[in-house]
Amino acid sequence: MSTIKYPLPPEVDPARLPRHIAVIMDGNGRWAKKNKLKVALGHRAGTENLREIIRNCSDIGVEALTLYAFSTENWNRSQTEVEALMQLILDFFHSEIDELDQKNVRILILGDKSGLPGPQRQVLEQAEARTAANTGLSLNIAVNYGGRAELVRAAQLLAREVQSGLRTPESIDEAAFAGKLYTAGLPEVDLLIRTSGEMRLSNFLLYQCSYAEFVFPEELWPDFHVPQLHRCIAEFQSRSRRYGGREE
Ligand code: FPP
Repeated sequence: MSTIKYPLPPEVDPARLPRHIAVIMDGNGRWAKKNKLKVALGHRAGTENLREIIRNCSDIGVEALTLYAFSTENWNRSQTEVEALMQLILDFFHSEIDELDQKNVRILILGDKSGLPGPQRQVLEQAEARTAANTGLSLNIAVNYGGRAELVRAAQLLAREVQSGLRTPESIDEAAFAGKLYTAGLPEVDLLIRTSGEMRLSNFLLYQCSYAEFVFPEELWPDFHVPQLHRCIAEFQSRSRRYGGREE
């Protein structure tokens, strides 16, 4: 039996874990500046903590972890920074895929893969195909992802089905809509974490975060580790979720 490297602290109730955690990994640029390093090294530092975070989510029994790796807006950064991020995506999958697969993690890419350079598209597609039958943690990585574009795409997919006579407009309900999102079949986001103290959604999982609890830790992303994750989960558990109703 494998042991959990970072067990849950007593303030976290293992019976009330968020089923789906989404993370906006913000602050790599500021971390690099603070440490007098190039921004690419900030992003690299921001992949080094990922392994433990993913492993812990898998160990403690979180069902889904969604990471915002590259937004559709990130193409507007300098060519050097875009290239560095693209390289990190390749490096991450090359170094982690064996262990992720062994841990029964299923990888899902959210976003438009057709807009990515060939090597990245290939590595992401291979990771998805290789882990498609895994039944453990669903590790969802948003790459070339935009929340509005995802909603527009869902509307187009449904419109095509109506046009071809497969469904009527009246048959489109929330479940049908959610079924056309990249996250189809996953639980809704329970906990959204954005590091570095910024308090924005930045076009991330607009539909899926409808009833998410938002937690904004001050740490810059490379300084965010498993103890900070557990603190966010404890904060999530301290909130009272009413979904528009009233507390009993
Ligand atoms: C935001 O920090 C972070 C990003 C735009 C990229 C996040 C990507 C990674 C951590 C690495 C790739 C991930 C995977 C899964 C392989 P920022 O640069 O906007 O920070 P700043 O606001 O301090 O400038």
